[in-house]
Amino acid sequence: MEGIFITIEGPDGSGKTTQIELLREYLEKKGYDSVVTREPGGTVISEAIREIILNPEYKEMSYMTELLLYAAARAQLVNQIIRPALIEGKAVICDRFVESSAVYQGIGRGLGVSTVYEVNNYALGEVKPKLTIFMDLDAEDGIKRKKNQTELDRMEQEDIEFHKRVVEGYRKLAELYPERIVPIDATLSVEDIHSRIVSEVEKRFFK
Ligand code: TYD
Repeated sequence: MEGIFITIEGPDGSGKTTQIELLREYLEKKGYDSVVTREPGGTVISEAIREIILNPEYKEMSYMTELLLYAAARAQLVNQIIRPALIEGKAVICDRFVESSAVYQGIGRGLGVSTVYEVNNYALGEVKPKLTIFMDLDAEDGIKRKKNQTELDRMEQEDIEFHKRVVEGYRKLAELYPERIVPIDATLSVEDIHSRIVSEVEKRFFK
């Protein structure tokens, strides 16, 4: 597969959307057709699964159901959108991917990171990101930013301890896989964050 596959991770409210748009513009300037997508979602079926997962009324959802629904949404996105785009040589930027499951379900819910990767291998096949940007922000700050915006979904309604485990989980993964997962301080200015992301992209894809 010739294309470029980059994922952006981070706690709720860490400013991923702004950076994804800037990264897309940068990759277009480099001559890449770019596909921006998000998880859970990005296809009609995956968006339908997203509605189930995030519905605040479904308080009885078991953690394993949650893990499998995220993986199901991902399998559809990979097969319908990401793999074909990479085969065509496009750049794909995905807002959240398998590391979200590793930290939210694996660590936040306590299902275990290795279980999460095992389940997700079925959904991913050989489609793996070469670079994962982690927008590093304390859980309290992320939740504060979100609360100002909208009504909270089922995941965002979890208590602060859950969101702290998520952020710690991301930090641990970044330590474990430093060649792929790059933490960037999300409190920096939009421009500073963008230029750090660009330098990581150049190191990996344009050298
Ligand atoms: P979303 O509104 O996309 O969050 P954000 O705007 O912060 O990116 O909601 C997705 C929620 O689902 C978010 O709380 C993280 C969670 N999530 C998981 O728990 N596991 C996963 O595998 C994915 C992709 C997301």
